[in-house]
Amino acid sequence: MTTDTTTKDTAPDATTPDRTVLDARGVTMRFGGLTAVRGVDLTVRSGEIVGLIGPNGAGKTTFFNCLTGLYVPTEGEVRYKGTLLPPKSFKVTAAGIARTFQNIRLFSNMTVLENVLVGRHTRTKEGFWSAVLRGPGFHKAENASRARAMELLEFVGLAPKAEHLARNLPYGEQRKLEIARALASEPGLLLLDEPTAGMNPQETRATEELVFAIRDMGIAVLVIEHDMRFIFNLCDRVAVLVQGEKLIEGDSATVQGDDRVIAAYLGEPFEGAPGDEEAAEVHAAEAHAAPPAQAPTEAPAPAPTEAPADTPTEAEPGKENDR
Ligand SMILES: Nc1ncnc2c1ncn2[C@@H]1O[C@H](COP(=O)(O)OP(=O)(O)OP(=O)(O)O)[C@@H](O)[C@H]1O
Ligand SMILES: [Mg+2]
Repeated sequence: MTTDTTTKDTAPDATTPDRTVLDARGVTMRFGGLTAVRGVDLTVRSGEIVGLIGPNGAGKTTFFNCLTGLYVPTEGEVRYKGTLLPPKSFKVTAAGIARTFQNIRLFSNMTVLENVLVGRHTRTKEGFWSAVLRGPGFHKAENASRARAMELLEFVGLAPKAEHLARNLPYGEQRKLEIARALASEPGLLLLDEPTAGMNPQETRATEELVFAIRDMGIAVLVIEHDMRFIFNLCDRVAVLVQGEKLIEGDSATVQGDDRVIAAYLGEPFEGAPGDEEAAEVHAAEAHAAPPAQAPTEAPAPAPTEAPADTPTEAEPGKENDR
């Protein structure tokens, strides 16, 4: 249990800018023989925007799923403001962590406003009977919820479309609606999984401003993105995941200047890379087993470069969970 002796729970975040909001330690997620996330430590402090980047399949979304209780990590712990989080999504949301999804998850046949109202359910105290009996308490709570939901739609620029069906929104606006819905749970930490995917440059720029505004509201942000300009403009710190392991973490300049990061994106092997020892062993074994000068006696094998193109991509079994 992380103990914070310098601040009390009653202290507002604004006066304690160094307070740790998220503290993930040694998070590991294995799927059978595949280790998608390996021993990842990450902290996010109050007032920070932290980026999480890495090539496709690096384990970024899996890490988010571990933070938010969608997956039970094989190893490791996640604390929010010092409290150990149970691996249950609704409890994580109730504790104060909200998220958006890489593949948008809206109620497409509900209106924009209704989608945001759904996001408020962890913050409304009115219970089942109150909703059924529809007494004065229920109406008061419902009005307050609607007012807050409209405020949030105003904030993301979707108020004029409050009564539209979610499915009729253009893609960029659906992403904004997901953000409004996440904010409706009044989080202290917002996790964004590729918030600008599919957006044009203007929408991306607007999303950047939106994330700054969210941070200014006192909500810490952890964001996954492939758009490097977006990440490096926005983030106070950036962590890089490669093959499930954290390769480096630092400010934008440090991360941009690290050759290993560039190599990871280009897919080039580099000394000390995660998985490098295994790769080196395999290469060494291959080199010993089949030196290029000794041609095999059997019929020639198909050219190795052709194999990946024919290999179906469903070799990645986990994508169905969040895609
Ligand atoms: N439920 C699951 N079962 C099995 N394997 C999984 C599961 N979820 C994820 N994986 C695997 O874990 C690895 C990491 O996937 P993940 O989606 O976390 O990567 P990512 O960094 O988010 O990639 P991208 O940038 O493409 O979104 C992949 O090899 C993926 O196939
Ligand atoms: Mg992902």
